[in-house]
Amino acid sequence: MLELVMGDKVLVLDFGSQTSHLIARRVRGLGVFCEVVESDMTLEKIKDDPTIKALILSGGARSVYQSNAPKFDKNILKLGIPVLGICYGHQLIAHLSKGEVVGGKRGEYGRTRLQIKRGSELLDGLPPETNVWMNHKDVVARIPQAFKLSAISEDAVCAAYEMPAKGLYGVQFHPEVSHTEYGIQIIKNFIFKIAGCQKSWSSRRLLKDLVSEARREIGSEKAIIGLSGGVDSATAAILVSRAIGKNLIAVYVDTGFMRQGETAFIRKAFKSVNIILKVVNARAKYFAALRGIRRPERKRRIIGKIFTDIFWEVAKKQKATILIQGTIYSDRIESGGTKLSSRIKSHHNVGGLPKHLKLRIYEPLKELYKDEVRELARSIGLTQDIANRKVFPGPGLAIRVVGEVTPERVKIVRAATQILEEELLKTRLYKKIWMGFAILLPIKSVGIQGDQRSYKYPLVVRIVESRDAMTAQFSKMPWNLLECISTRITNEIKEVNRVVYDITHKPPATMEWE
Ligand code: XMP
Repeated sequence: MLELVMGDKVLVLDFGSQTSHLIARRVRGLGVFCEVVESDMTLEKIKDDPTIKALILSGGARSVYQSNAPKFDKNILKLGIPVLGICYGHQLIAHLSKGEVVGGKRGEYGRTRLQIKRGSELLDGLPPETNVWMNHKDVVARIPQAFKLSAISEDAVCAAYEMPAKGLYGVQFHPEVSHTEYGIQIIKNFIFKIAGCQKSWSSRRLLKDLVSEARREIGSEKAIIGLSGGVDSATAAILVSRAIGKNLIAVYVDTGFMRQGETAFIRKAFKSVNIILKVVNARAKYFAALRGIRRPERKRRIIGKIFTDIFWEVAKKQKATILIQGTIYSDRIESGGTKLSSRIKSHHNVGGLPKHLKLRIYEPLKELYKDEVRELARSIGLTQDIANRKVFPGPGLAIRVVGEVTPERVKIVRAATQILEEELLKTRLYKKIWMGFAILLPIKSVGIQGDQRSYKYPLVVRIVESRDAMTAQFSKMPWNLLECISTRITNEIKEVNRVVYDITHKPPATMEWE
């Protein structure tokens, strides 16, 4: 948890929902600090923190009757802190308060019409009928004694209840998703009118608090940070340098898998800010280590290990004892960093260091989402070209060359990435997308160029839209833009004779191919 003094705080207790992080994002968007914690957080911890003003119990995939249902201390409901249960959380409060939860006849998934009863505190200000988003099978068949039914859905299912005297509220639907028409109004009612939270969360306030936290955490020790050219590590670097000044050394490792002109970009970007920058050229080392390696997770592990070896060498030389990392919240989720989330791929900047490296890790941005980091970057004075920069994975172009990584293949994918970036930047669509990139496949196909048969690599173009990297849609780009990208790639990159467009969402695919 973030040990910051940030005024009122709301906790989301996570029962394994895909949208727990989104609930937290919504609350923070309304100006109140909120973070996601495990569902089994102890009653003492909650009691000991006077800044916690409200609790939200998330949804989850289990049934309240399952023996492997996530753990939760029911006495938390008696603390007098207002609690809002969402979906599974709604069923759990009802179940623990002696209501009845049963398996629904057919479940409700997607858009559902809600009928609201008069006099509800939670649903105050909503019209008598509205659309909400449901995703459940079990239902609350009988609400606990003295609870008031506040809304029903089309199937006469208990869609919301409340017990203001005990501060307990529940909604079967998801107010956090954008398809629920008055979702934000409901969250506002809960955190402001019911829980009485005061707004204190803003990127300026956050910056101030993060700088003081970094000062406290690092003290007079020396720290190093790896710069990748991305917004996360750049923001973490400036933030920490504000806290400890010259005791921070930034390290940029040129792996050979970076974007075109990256080293020059980094030197330029950090010239004006007062940070000591060390550039390490490790291209030969990386290519040698990856020779013959094809499996994605092995590649990632090898790349991660060389990174840590280099940082350890620099740290020893500089007598640094702390490694700062720009890890953000979604990196942790994908690497299986929360108890109920599963491991998708190992982001090399997550998961700790080998024991023999006597470096303490400090991750100042670990509770933030990408859009929050971008906001912070702007308020910290980073230029727009860094603050708005598209995401680039830590292992770089090595995971965009499917199969074995060679200098020749990386060069191809780098050139294609540059073409894509240039063409996307010319359009207004650049702002709308999460990222656009190219992937080189380890196969060849037949083509015809200049009246001659060619047998060359195909390149995949992938452009995705996402709000938070957890899910993504392939971008429905105009055909003429794709045509232009394809023509430029096959004209300018002599090793490529075919371009295909990836039309898969995440899930079932991930954004990157490896
Ligand atoms: P996936 O492929 O998991 O990607 O859908 C989600 C986002 O994360 C980026 N990504 C990484 N970033 N280290 C990083 O710093 C990594 O190891 C890594 N792997 C994926 C990816 O580019 C996308 O924006």
